[in-house]
Amino acid sequence: MGTKIIGTGCYTPERVLTNHDLEKMVDTSDEWIRTRTGIEERHIAADGESASDMAYPACIRALEASGTSPDEIGMIIVATVCPDYPFPSTACVLQRKLKVSPGAICLDMQAACSGFIYALDIVNSMVKTHPSLKKALVVGVEKITMLTDWEDRNTCVLFGDGAGAVVLEARRDSQDGGGIVASKLSADGNFTDILMVKAGGSAMPLTKEVMDQRLQYIRMEGQEVFKQAVNAMVGACKEVLQEAGVTSSEIRWLIPHQANRRIIEAVGKRLNLTEENVFINVSRYGNTSAASIAIALDEIARGGKVERGEYLLLTAFGAGLTWGATLLRW
Ligand code: ACO
Repeated sequence: MGTKIIGTGCYTPERVLTNHDLEKMVDTSDEWIRTRTGIEERHIAADGESASDMAYPACIRALEASGTSPDEIGMIIVATVCPDYPFPSTACVLQRKLKVSPGAICLDMQAACSGFIYALDIVNSMVKTHPSLKKALVVGVEKITMLTDWEDRNTCVLFGDGAGAVVLEARRDSQDGGGIVASKLSADGNFTDILMVKAGGSAMPLTKEVMDQRLQYIRMEGQEVFKQAVNAMVGACKEVLQEAGVTSSEIRWLIPHQANRRIIEAVGKRLNLTEENVFINVSRYGNTSAASIAIALDEIARGGKVERGEYLLLTAFGAGLTWGATLLRW
């Protein structure tokens, strides 16, 4: 018993900010950004565009791709660090926008850039204890540029906005054998300080003084995050492969969280994968946090880049630190 992805969708905002645009905003260069990160451009949400506004078209596309009507959806889970409101959840806002029937389970979850694979695993586990749960929407969405300090060249070149969604269907018999095969999730709160937004929560409410110090924005020790990220993702990937009895040579696509091309390539190399098997789209979107793997999945599915029965290995890391890996059979 488990779940299978039966439809995908994504959305990115219209406005594109290129590296050359950033050259006019901070002391940086297209060359520095491309060589250190692999990023060339990113999409930026409009001022009034909320997380649920971006998630909505991604969900509609996933519903259409899977031939699912909103009243079949028994659960919506939204992975985000940029909810529409402190409460109610963005999942409840989406439920109303999508006209998903009252009675569905709706919640947001926060595991930063690992949020989407955390959410997949939660639904995959919940179908086992909720027999009436047949189909769920799993969404990764971020308006991360609202947490971006546009005066800090160390971070403002890295991020972009967007949304991705999948419809997961409960599989109570083997059918075509596809679905979530194995998953490993982890966190280590000893590293909260190396990547965080200090202000805006209950620990440090927003005041003028706090905002003058720009503490409402992302602060990151880039090199430390880099080091932790590679080790964590490689370790999680090896664990799920071992648990499933699958070798890396059987993986059609490694789909890592798209934070930095160098991190992605290092992970692929340490898993003995060639570049034909490592999916990279960070050049066009930057780091869209919880949305990145969901957007990548949609590009792979819509681009006809995966055949039924092939293995996809998703892996992510993010603030917390959180990390994990999920092995899917398409
Ligand atoms: N343009 C030009 N120079 C820059 C820029 C920039 N945008 N940013 C930093 N520099 C400078 C630094 O000031 C430094 O200069 P100095 O040597 O004179 O002090 C120099 O470039 C080197 O800086 P490093 O930080 O050592 O650069 P590094 O090669 O480590 O690359 C980067 C930085 C890209 C941030 C890298 O460390 C990285 O990708 N880390 C991982 C970040 C990440 O993936 N975060 C994702 C998690 S996000 C989440 O969970 C929400």
